[in-house]
Amino acid sequence: MFFSRLGSLALSSASAVLAANYSNPLEPKNGGDPSIAWHDGYWYFTATNYRDISVRRATTLEGLKTALPKTVWAHSAEYPSRQCNIWAPELHIMDGQWHIYFSAGGCDDDSIQQSQVLRGGQSPWDNFDFYGTVNAPAWSIDGTPLTINGQNYFVYSCFRDDTGENLQSLCIGQNSDILTIGEEHLLASPTEAWERNGQMPVNEGPFALYSKNRTFLSYSGSFCWDPSYSLGLLEYIGGDPLQQSSWVKTGPHFSQANGMYSTGHNSFFTSPDGTETWMAYHSSPNPAGSCGDRYANAKKIDFEADGFPILGEPIAEGVVLPGPAGEPQA
Ligand SMILES: *[C@@H]1O[C@H](CO)[C@@H](O)[C@H](O)[C@H]1NC(C)=O
Ligand SMILES: *[C@@H]1O[C@H](CO)[C@@H](O)[C@H](O)[C@H]1NC(C)=O
Repeated sequence: MFFSRLGSLALSSASAVLAANYSNPLEPKNGGDPSIAWHDGYWYFTATNYRDISVRRATTLEGLKTALPKTVWAHSAEYPSRQCNIWAPELHIMDGQWHIYFSAGGCDDDSIQQSQVLRGGQSPWDNFDFYGTVNAPAWSIDGTPLTINGQNYFVYSCFRDDTGENLQSLCIGQNSDILTIGEEHLLASPTEAWERNGQMPVNEGPFALYSKNRTFLSYSGSFCWDPSYSLGLLEYIGGDPLQQSSWVKTGPHFSQANGMYSTGHNSFFTSPDGTETWMAYHSSPNPAGSCGDRYANAKKIDFEADGFPILGEPIAEGVVLPGPAGEPQA
């Protein structure tokens, strides 16, 4: 199995280990589509800066605010098919090697957006090389790995639906290797009212969450500039993961509140001691909504006794909270 799971996310919140405090936002400008991972004493952070792929690291979440970004990949004029619209980098460890998935395409026409993969080393601080483009049909963005019953899948945002509306939906393919999937299948379309706010209906930004032997995909619904951009959940309920009928959609589970708008495009990460599940997400303080300059934020999430995630509410700017359990005290 080349994808490592997020770990069997322990549900216990009891921890004797104190953490450093932090407040949101962790990044107030280039914070869209944030991804955070803990590795060997450091948090690693990346997000959409539209320009290149950069990673920063610090021993505490709070420390990420002032950490200097290191550019790990920059486009080159030699490769016009991945020069522009550089979006949604995600850190994943697979087969013991760190990878970064991101979306990029040509400059004139984003219809050729595709998922690109960088391969690094055993630490996210090692150098990354361009590894390849996932063969999902263009247009495909926000690609992320998913593992069910030991089989690897690739989930991404696509233009496809079974309503004839040409909706920005979620698609899935079964991997034979990191860069190769089989036939594309429609997983979910923005059919609910909460997924259709703003300029166009959208499903995007999927991310896997494994809890008590239950498998979920969080995703973002509605147009990202709309203040009511929100998170929904798909739960795998058995059967062929490539079939829409094997998944149940619920939502919204995380929406504008506490002075934060356009809240979404999340990812999950685990506390250093392995006991807590956290979520990175972006938001805007602008009540009119924004998908331009965005805050990157982090919050702990909870679970019902049966393993169903409780994403809660966006945290107001500047509120001081304890960081993830096991984080060194700065
Ligand atoms: C975190 O903040 C609380 C409340 O302000 C404070 O009592 C506590 O000492 C702080 N913890 C650390 C590790 O700084
Ligand atoms: C976990 O879930 C999978 C698929 O949903 C199922 O096949 C398996 O039996 C479950 N295992 C346990 C221990 O419940």
